[in-house]
Amino acid sequence: MKLGTKLIHAGVEPDPSTGAIMTPIFQTSTYVQAAPGDHKGYEYARTQNPTRHALQNALAAIENGKHGICFGSGLAATDAIIKLLAPGDEVVASSDLYGGTFRIFTKVFAKYGIKFHFADLQDAGQLSRHLNAATKLIWIETPTNPMLNIIDIAACAAIAKEKGILLAVDNTFASPYLQNPLDLGADIVVHSATKYLGGHSDVVHGAVIVKDDALAQQLAFIQNSCGAVPPAGLLPGAAGYQNPACAHAAPLRERRGGGPLPPGASESGEGVLVRV
Ligand SMILES: Cc1ncc(COP(=O)(O)O)c(C=O)c1O
Repeated sequence: MKLGTKLIHAGVEPDPSTGAIMTPIFQTSTYVQAAPGDHKGYEYARTQNPTRHALQNALAAIENGKHGICFGSGLAATDAIIKLLAPGDEVVASSDLYGGTFRIFTKVFAKYGIKFHFADLQDAGQLSRHLNAATKLIWIETPTNPMLNIIDIAACAAIAKEKGILLAVDNTFASPYLQNPLDLGADIVVHSATKYLGGHSDVVHGAVIVKDDALAQQLAFIQNSCGAVPPAGLLPGAAGYQNPACAHAAPLRERRGGGPLPPGASESGEGVLVRV
């Protein structure tokens, strides 16, 4: 299925209670149960929400993943990923990072005993110098914010796989229109959906997309346990999944049709970002 088709249809099922073709905004905190535990798949809106469910499925589809997990912001999504780790674990991250990501790593999580190393990963060979037995996660952003540096996801993924380390890619700047990190071997994709996925500067939102069932379960556990979920009424677009379609139609098309691509990158066909 082409990206444009996925953007419009993925994750959307007619609403079973009314037949509404577009998933409604379920602006409710809790759901009636016929008896304790006897419900229709929804109990409490921090845990599950049908609007969020549709959006999560749409985001999973456009990143060629299996599971989407939505958060109240990009940093809340990052927070959930780092909470997969334990004190003593180490992370190697690209040195050119969104400032808020650097801040949460160094000012919030470092004090809980997680150690962060920063390296210029434009040369993926630099990774090996910083990996050790405690390294549990490699974190890259490409193109980077603010320098728009390009990191070779497939090269980092090959090293991560060989060592059994998770690779997370912040795909905010490229968006799924230009790049699908899971296809290149990454384990986790993270988005500040506040940017291109939202597309209209009217919402703050974050998402994580993975293929692995166990990883998705852990992230959903953190989503529910820590509670950084987006309010149903503030999901991107009126019905949650509409804005990724807008992302295809507006800002990213601008980028394709003459808007500048990041330095060092060019677009080759639909959804491909390559080095030049
Ligand atoms: C690349 C990147 N990642 C993450 C974030 C954090 O996202 P949010 O502002 O939605 O928390 C930003 C925000 O600008 C960003 O540019």
